[in-house]
Amino acid sequence: MTARVLCTLPLPDPFAAMVSARAELDVVGSIVPSADLAERLRHGVDVLAPQLRDRVDAGVMDAALPRLRAVCNYAVGFDNIDVPAATERGIVVTNTPGVLTDATADCAVGLMLAAARRLCEGDHEMREGRYAGWEPEYLLGLDLNGATLALVGFGRIGQAVARRALAFDMQVLYVEDGDVPVDPALAGRVRRVDFDTAVREADVISLHTPLTAQTRHLVGEDVLRRMKPTSVLVNTSRGPVVDEAALVRALREGWIAAAGLDVYEREPEMSPGLAECRNAVLAPHLGSATVKTRAAMARLCAENVLAALDGELPPTCLNPDAWAATKPAPAS
Ligand code: GLV
Ligand code: GLV
Repeated sequence: MTARVLCTLPLPDPFAAMVSARAELDVVGSIVPSADLAERLRHGVDVLAPQLRDRVDAGVMDAALPRLRAVCNYAVGFDNIDVPAATERGIVVTNTPGVLTDATADCAVGLMLAAARRLCEGDHEMREGRYAGWEPEYLLGLDLNGATLALVGFGRIGQAVARRALAFDMQVLYVEDGDVPVDPALAGRVRRVDFDTAVREADVISLHTPLTAQTRHLVGEDVLRRMKPTSVLVNTSRGPVVDEAALVRALREGWIAAAGLDVYEREPEMSPGLAECRNAVLAPHLGSATVKTRAAMARLCAENVLAALDGELPPTCLNPDAWAATKPAPAS
């Protein structure tokens, strides 16, 4: 029986070439509702390679059993997959960490600069013909030099933002609940604080935490009201980490000065009023969107798929217990 791999949206090169050399690759061509995805999986799929808009819950996985052995996500974030349910079912789950760290950190810094220096508001002024010439107090923003940046989540991406921020002579604080290895190059140059201290002291808060039950609405009305009125919020993690309706009020009423957003609570929709907030810089989930990075993600995703088909531990497996428990034989 030929091994079968399913994805919804086509993934960039070299995904198809790498996978097709080993298995039959079925590409749906669009995102489909969970029931349709389950129906397709019922026909016998060894590995599913979803992207971050595909919800892979217990029901979807049950439809794919007993044949499904791995779910190889084309994203570093994996809140779209019920990993504990996969582990219970002996299904391996993988993501694409590492290869998109720099691209995403660049995007966060771009949003920070644009929001702090009001570059997009200025862009609107130009296009609308409202710029009447240089004035001493026109569109004044926040100096990054000497400003305090608080990174909430200090994994690879948070640390890559820290390295960039140090080049801007920012003071860097970080909040991290887990036990993450910290780059020795950052030792002594960044300070670990608790979340409340970060909220109180930061001129810029940048979010780099995964979306979990604990981080959903981590930044809500209470936090936004405690931030400095001159401060900037940057989110390149996941939209639901911020209570977007509260953020709209914060931006309108001046609880904070500006926001730079790459992710939204109900993507691709925006909360009512957000589009009208000139002090919000709004990007359409572009964190990893460079040619080189998306190709590197495709290669890593394909390597995970191929390892899973061969019964080997995939390079970036999120639940090695599932693999160890089942140690599947290669799919033919
Ligand atoms: C993008 O948001 C990712 O998780 O890779
Ligand atoms: C998590 O998204 C990380 O790579 O830091």
